[in-house]
Amino acid sequence: MATKNTHLQQNSIVILDFGSQYNQLIARRIRELGVYSEILPYDTPLEEITKRKPDGIILSGGPSSVYSPDAHLISPDIFKLKIPVFGICYGMQLMTYLLGGKVDKGEIGEYGKAIFYKNTGHSLLKNVPEVSQVWMSHFDEVSQVPDGFGILGHTDTCIAGIYNDSQKFYATQFHPEVEHTEYGRQILKNFVLDICKSNPNWDLQDYITKSIAAIKETVGDEKVILGLSGGVDSSVAAMLIHKAIGKQLTCIFVDTGLLRQNEAKAVMETYGKHFDMNIKYIDASEQFLKALKGVSDPEAKRKIIGREFIEVFNREAGKIKDAGFLAQGTIYPDIIESQSAKGGPSATIKSHHNVGGLPENMHLKLLEPLKELFKDEVRKIGLELGIPRGMIMRHPFPGPGLGIRILGEVSPEKVRILQQADAIFIDELRQNDLYEKVSQAFVVLLPVKSVGVMGDERTYEYTAVIRSVNTTDFMTATWSRLPYDFLEKVSSRIINEVRCINRVAYDISSKPPATIEWE
Ligand code: XMP
Repeated sequence: MATKNTHLQQNSIVILDFGSQYNQLIARRIRELGVYSEILPYDTPLEEITKRKPDGIILSGGPSSVYSPDAHLISPDIFKLKIPVFGICYGMQLMTYLLGGKVDKGEIGEYGKAIFYKNTGHSLLKNVPEVSQVWMSHFDEVSQVPDGFGILGHTDTCIAGIYNDSQKFYATQFHPEVEHTEYGRQILKNFVLDICKSNPNWDLQDYITKSIAAIKETVGDEKVILGLSGGVDSSVAAMLIHKAIGKQLTCIFVDTGLLRQNEAKAVMETYGKHFDMNIKYIDASEQFLKALKGVSDPEAKRKIIGREFIEVFNREAGKIKDAGFLAQGTIYPDIIESQSAKGGPSATIKSHHNVGGLPENMHLKLLEPLKELFKDEVRKIGLELGIPRGMIMRHPFPGPGLGIRILGEVSPEKVRILQQADAIFIDELRQNDLYEKVSQAFVVLLPVKSVGVMGDERTYEYTAVIRSVNTTDFMTATWSRLPYDFLEKVSSRIINEVRCINRVAYDISSKPPATIEWE
């Protein structure tokens, strides 16, 4: 059983997901306007949509064509609900097709930046200049608008927007949610606040209060177990639940021995001591390192770490008698990814390390207090709850930890070397005010030794690689353009302070084709 959505009754914008990779951006942009927005699969029954009493509906973009045999179609009755509708890209083609207009295969398609020439001074385009840049990504295009519709504007190749004022139906061929559409935020604002008249009352402080009340009500006097990793999501979930039910919550913190330097200590001090949370600290480092001995294949290492984690977590969770709930730091993008429109590209990508497969006989219900929130909202809530900024703004850290940053076989000595080198890099980033300017930064230890010279002596030691990337979604990433002087300082500190490293390299690969992690 999952907890019910706290905000179901609030005024909102519903986004129907036809599989575009930009859908999460639409929802985020709308929440930035202070209005709650929710993404639902395109085939959600109309009753489910109307139950939410949305102020407006957005039909998202998507990879399909309205004429293909497996097109993602919906009931035209959606246009009879007397709710304003905004179609984006595929959503514009779908609106056109379902309302009797014509969609054609474009001759060349359009991908990337384009110039939009506005036709009318229509309210959807309030404060948008006559000529502006937009972001396009389509093949098909509208060739004839449905009866009752006018044209908002065009690019050099296509009709780029349509409207029907009396019905409050609007659509753009371009993507207003994408940064490259100069006035995209303004267009979404015009739709949501002016046309749908949504009340911007989505407020995180209010969310905290309601969530705490909802957790109290859901949990009653039962016990809750939570796997605390020290990462942002599990920590904020733990704090929220702790505020609601105090010692009825037991967190299990598994020290795999593959954590960053002083990480376990920092987590125990912040959450255990300072916030007085009930945390079971399990030092399982020996068990993990033993299981990894002799293994150098990346996939095998990942499997072993995952398996050991579940084993330790289950063993410890099983010792907590009469637990009623398992809490998880699942956030909204996790939910969207798992529910995404069939075949939609938003379906793929991340493997999550949420605790899997607790013993069936524990019959635990699921408690996921962050499942309606985006990462930046989770961070804001964490700060509101008093978690130190340093903990909240931490870069993501993979479940398998240093196990996949020590290339090849893992040993306690290599863990120590990597922890020291990594701590120096992170320390320098923080000192130079760069830590929050990059999305993820860490050091990788190569199993390769090379020759160097120190003083008068020849050395033959390991190579460390500095990795730092900038990204918004972790699906694509570019390497961070860190200043040369900074890189020099990091390299020199690592080589001087960490025994067994005599060479430092900087990884200048983007994702794709490289991945962020090395294994
Ligand atoms: P890649 O290496 O696939 O990483 O470009 C993308 C993002 O995912 C993180 N990552 C993981 N996170 N369990 C996790 O929780 C994992 O097994 C895992 N592998 C990669 C990685 O750190 C980056 O942020």
